[in-house]
Order: sequence, then structure tokens, then C-alpha cells
Amino acid sequence: MAGLRFGLIGTGFIGRAHAIALKAVGTVFGIEAPVCELLADTTTDSAAQAARALGFRRSTGDWQALVADPQVDVVDICTPNHLHREMALAAIRAGKSVYCEKPLANTAGEALEIVQAAEAAGVRNHVGFNYIRNPMVRHARELIRQGGIGDVCGFRGYYLEDYMRDPATPWSWRCQRSLAGAGALADLGSHLINAVHFLLEPVARVQGKLQTVYPVRPDPRDGRPRPVENEDVARALFETGSGIPGTFEISRIAGGYKCGLGFAVFGTRGTLTFDQERMNELRLYTDGSPPGERGFRTLLAGPEHPDYAAFCPAPGHGLGINDLKVIEARDVLRSFAGEGDPWPDFREGYRVQRVMEAIEQSHAAGGWVSVPA
Ligand SMILES: NC(=O)c1ccc[n+]([C@@H]2O[C@H](COP(=O)([O-])OP(=O)(O)OC[C@H]3O[C@@H](n4cnc5c(N)ncnc54)[C@H](O)[C@@H]3O)[C@@H](O)[C@H]2O)c1
Repeated sequence: MAGLRFGLIGTGFIGRAHAIALKAVGTVFGIEAPVCELLADTTTDSAAQAARALGFRRSTGDWQALVADPQVDVVDICTPNHLHREMALAAIRAGKSVYCEKPLANTAGEALEIVQAAEAAGVRNHVGFNYIRNPMVRHARELIRQGGIGDVCGFRGYYLEDYMRDPATPWSWRCQRSLAGAGALADLGSHLINAVHFLLEPVARVQGKLQTVYPVRPDPRDGRPRPVENEDVARALFETGSGIPGTFEISRIAGGYKCGLGFAVFGTRGTLTFDQERMNELRLYTDGSPPGERGFRTLLAGPEHPDYAAFCPAPGHGLGINDLKVIEARDVLRSFAGEGDPWPDFREGYRVQRVMEAIEQSHAAGGWVSVPA
């Protein structure tokens, strides 16, 4: 994995997190650091300023120049959703490895086009589903696989935030179908669906209901009401391929919730619960205690859990959200060097997109909708 040279496109919320991770990953994991080679943003000036702040060697106001640049090995896409398809396809055509933020595209059809192009060209690829990198989420997966809660018989998943709770919050690209695709479902739900695929197995059937509570928001240019074209809330029942039943509740207007990505996994001998707002904890209930002492134990993240020790030798001191991106960057470097598991790759991004689309179809037509295998 010697010194892969990164070209980062987009330096907003998540582009900055990628830059921090690329800078830290070599130190944290004691591996060859990637090279922060080239950065692109919308203008020459904004790109130059971001490159200075984030420690990139060069910058450009033209993302296509970044994709074509012979000194770039990996194209790292951190732009709004509608740009992922065009940028990923261009990078694949140029033979670059591609690291793309979620959701992979705006529709399942677009996602499939990207997957097929990447697979035909044989380029390595990865989607930024960072929450499954959490040592406690990975510990939960290991516990489930080892039978620590018996046979899994149910799942309750939620991803609740309130970043659009206030009806006066201005309209943004996330409200427009052609720029964002679905609303809360794509922005938040994509992570939750990926978590089910990580912890259990692929979702096979869904029955969904969408809700747009605030149909207009003030246009940031002139304050006039501008239509919101996608949902604020998505709810669904689901079943996995082997028939495990579950529920999803996803909202961008859930007052009080800031990063409420959580789940409960119910087994025949116990229950596991996790909440990203308390991301260093896993709660475990197992049968067997005497009456009066039955209840959840709280496990605190520590060096016994996957990758924690790379950050800190002491238990209970805690990792943060940017650390999940550092772990993800290590996995991307490994996979792009042909040394590690490439999952979650573009095919997983496409699978997630098909589940989202099935929820939308169920909302429109009613009843259960199968997710194509
Ligand atoms: N994995 C996560 O937890 C997570 C969190 C937040 C966002 N995201 C995803 O990351 C992507 C970006 O979201 P964000 O919140 O960072 O958005 P943002 O609006 O904060 O930033 C977008 C960036 O892209 C740049 N950009 C826009 N058009 C461009 C163009 N044509 N050429 C070059 N740069 C361009 C903008 O200038 C800005 O720097 C989205 O797909 C989103 O779903 C993922």
C-alpha cells in the first residue's frame, strides 16, 4: 500500500473528514501514509484555500483535471449525491481506483451503471459507510456470529436526526430529487440498511411508508417558499433473505436527535443494543441471571475491541466520528492494494440503493416489495 496518491473532490462536511483521515491513517496504524496529492472544489480559489487548510500538495477548480491527472491513483468523491455518477464513471474510464461517499448514486439504475463500469474495467472501489467501522458495531457483529445472543429473531433499526426539524431551516440540495435522490432515506437510511447487511444479511423484502412533513422551505437566495421534493421521514418493515423480521425508522426532523443511528438485535438468548450518540458503548442482555438481577450490561469500548488499541491503550477513553473515517481509510488502502476485503464496495452501494428504491415503490403502490437478488 505504498504511498497511494489521492485526489479529493469536495471539501464540505465529509470531504474534510476524509482529509483528516488521510492525514492520520499512517500514524494511527503504522502503515505507509497515503499522499494528499490533489484537491478539487468548485473554484480555483476555494480549492486553493482548502488545499492549504487540509494539507494537499496541489489544487484545481476543475474536477475533470483531477481525474485525468497522472499523479492521482485514487479519486475520492465527496460531492453532493447527483455528482457521484458522472465523477465515478469518469474516474473508472481513467482507470483510477474510486472511493465514493454514500449514497452511491441517486437511483438503483445509476448505481448499477457505476458497478458494471467498475467491474468491467477492473478498478477497485469502495463506498464510505463509516458507521460499520465502529469497534463496538464490529464487536456486536462478532457476538452475533458467535451465537452470543442465540439465534437472531428480530431487528429494530433507527436513524434519527433533527437537522431539518425547524421549518425555517433553508432549502438545500438535499431537498431536491435531481440533486439528492431520496430524502432522509438516502441521506441517513443508506447507513442503516448497510448496517443490517453488515450485522445480519441482505434485506430481501420491504413494506415502506414515506412522509414529507414540511413540503416547502425558504429558498436561501430570496427566502421564498421552495418545494421539498423528497421525504423527511421513512418507515419500513423488512425481512432478510433467511426471514429475520425487522423495522426501520428514519427521520431528518426528529427533534432532539443529533446522530441517533441505533439498533436492537433480538436473539433467542439475549439482546444487543447500540446507539451512535453513545458510540463507545454496546449494551448486552443475556439470559441466565437470577430474578431481580436481569438486565443490560454496558460494555465500554477498549483495546479488546477491533482497532481501538491503534488509537488508545486505555479502555473507556473513547473514539470519535473522525476515527471511524481513519479506520475506513485503512480499509480502503488495504483493499486498493489488493490486500484486504473490498466490502462495502460499489456492489454493496447498489444493493443498498435497491432496498431504498423498494421502500419507495412500496410507499407508492402499497404492500410488500421484493428486493431483486
Ligand atoms: N459518510 C457519512 O457519514 C457522510 C456524512 C455527510 C455527508 N456524506 C455524503 O458526502 C457527500 C457530500 O456531503 P457533504 O455533507 O460533505 O456536502 P457539502 O455540501 O458540505 O460539501 C460538498 C462539497 O462538494 C463541493 N462541490 C460541489 N460541486 C462540485 C463540483 N462540481 N466540483 C467540485 N466540488 C464540488 C462543494 O463545494 C463542497 O465542498 C454526500 O454524498 C453525502 O451523502 C456522508
